[in-house]
Amino acid sequence: MSNSERVMRFLKLEDLDAVVAIDEAWSKQNRREYYERKIASIVKGRSEINCSLVCEIDGKIAGFMMGYLFFGEFGITDATATIDAIGVHPDFSNRGVAGEMLDQFVMNMKAAGVKKIYTLVSWDDFGLEKFFSRQKFVPSKRINLELALP
Ligand SMILES: CC(C)(COP(=O)(O)OP(=O)(O)OC[C@H]1O[C@@H](n2cnc3c(N)ncnc32)[C@H](O)[C@@H]1OP(=O)(O)O)[C@@H](O)C(=O)NCCC(=O)NCCS
Repeated sequence: MSNSERVMRFLKLEDLDAVVAIDEAWSKQNRREYYERKIASIVKGRSEINCSLVCEIDGKIAGFMMGYLFFGEFGITDATATIDAIGVHPDFSNRGVAGEMLDQFVMNMKAAGVKKIYTLVSWDDFGLEKFFSRQKFVPSKRINLELALP
């Protein structure tokens, strides 16, 4: 593995199949339509900057990280960013792929003037929570509100 070539690059439309496969490996669901819309809006969206990344190892997509940059939304004046989805194929687990994608994302966000990066983790997603905690993410002061509709 130490000789394998890693390439970090921005997400492209052609990454759809790999993203769907990685998501399916974890969620056991095929969410192709969802990712098709999501990737199209990230890549082709006129107002958004594409800051989503994939990591290739020897030409194979090992992981992806989808994020957004915000300038002034929710009444927050500083530029902020969110990490909306992250996935590393189980074949490439525990090799620092997610950590490396996050480092790259953080570097890019710093360059864009971002002061804080937010993400949401399901309360029972212990693997993801552990990853973000190890990466120095802490519980936010922003309150996540919800309204269940009948
Ligand atoms: C959580 C997740 C992103 C972590 O990805 P990953 O690439 O395995 O993460 P990393 O390799 O960067 O870090 C994981 C561990 O490997 C360790 N590690 C990093 N590089 C390493 C290496 N070269 N050798 C051995 N271990 C290494 C890290 O220190 C870390 O250990 P720790 O948990 O004890 O701190 C991944 O498991 C995942 O995708 N989970 C599913 C998430 C999900 O459900 N997403 C929604 C649908 S896609």
